[in-house]
Amino acid sequence: MRRHLGLTIFASALAAGAVMMTSPSFAASSNVIIGIQREAADLHEKTNNFDEEPVLSGGEIRFLENRGSIGQQLSAVIRSGDGHVIVVDGGQEADEEHLLSAIREAGGVVDAWLVTHPQADHVGGLYAMLRDHRQDVDIRGIYYNFFEYDWYREVDPEESGMVAALMEQLSGFDQTRLHPDAGLGTEVVLSDCLSFRVLNDPVRTDGAYAVNSSGLMYDIYVNGKHLIILGDMGETVGDRLIADLPIRDITCDYVQMSHHGQDGVSEMFYRMLQPVNCIWPTTDWIYHVENINTRFRTVLTKNWISKLNVQNNYITIGDDVIIR
Ligand SMILES: [Fe+2]
Repeated sequence: MRRHLGLTIFASALAAGAVMMTSPSFAASSNVIIGIQREAADLHEKTNNFDEEPVLSGGEIRFLENRGSIGQQLSAVIRSGDGHVIVVDGGQEADEEHLLSAIREAGGVVDAWLVTHPQADHVGGLYAMLRDHRQDVDIRGIYYNFFEYDWYREVDPEESGMVAALMEQLSGFDQTRLHPDAGLGTEVVLSDCLSFRVLNDPVRTDGAYAVNSSGLMYDIYVNGKHLIILGDMGETVGDRLIADLPIRDITCDYVQMSHHGQDGVSEMFYRMLQPVNCIWPTTDWIYHVENINTRFRTVLTKNWISKLNVQNNYITIGDDVIIR
């Protein structure tokens, strides 16, 4: 466990003015809690389930650690036992080669590429695939729901460059493979072993977390297990959406922790989901910050999760998370 190394990297990243610190995903919160320092719960983290019996009947859930930079990302490649593949988001552009190799290891054909929201730590990898690897990766469907470009430029000017770049790549892609109106009611069955549904329509708000909370959430079924993707969904919109979510109809064998495990959806949201396993698409410098005075409040989420009956916490630190 490299608890203090994370703080070192975090400090170094701050000193270097690291790129990811400028991401509006981590814009300063207006309600930072001050004067409290709590000890984080020990969640007995791991990166894979290789020491257990396989649970996915030949399928695999893989969340990629970012090897191209030290930034956070959400990038997942999900392969069913019968060889169908879903990619979620795709992570940072800098992690392009890692993503390409993970897709190739899964067979090189992506049946469905699911996008939560168009920020660089989520769609940079998709942008890179469309720009550099159209001949290498057969993407048969891209599911997303974006607002018009001017909205992103207004609420999130620093990240709007990626939005424009991605939109340009999508405009030159086979239009019959694009699904730009994904939302509540979208359900796609790729095989008996792999399917997904979208859990919400995008919500238009303002403020620092507007783009995070404009994202889509997904329920992915793979070989008998359900993986819930939350993207970077925030507390306010998340709580509002709970009323519309088919929450009693949701089985949550695995949940992707919102917003990289901190400042995402609320404790109530996680309590309603009742996840059996949590997957944290995080980094050392986000996950191991234990001082609640920082804007990175992973410690709060860890404490919430410690109170639930979660069996395993998988973290993308030191290796990809791989569940088979
Ligand atoms: Fe993010």
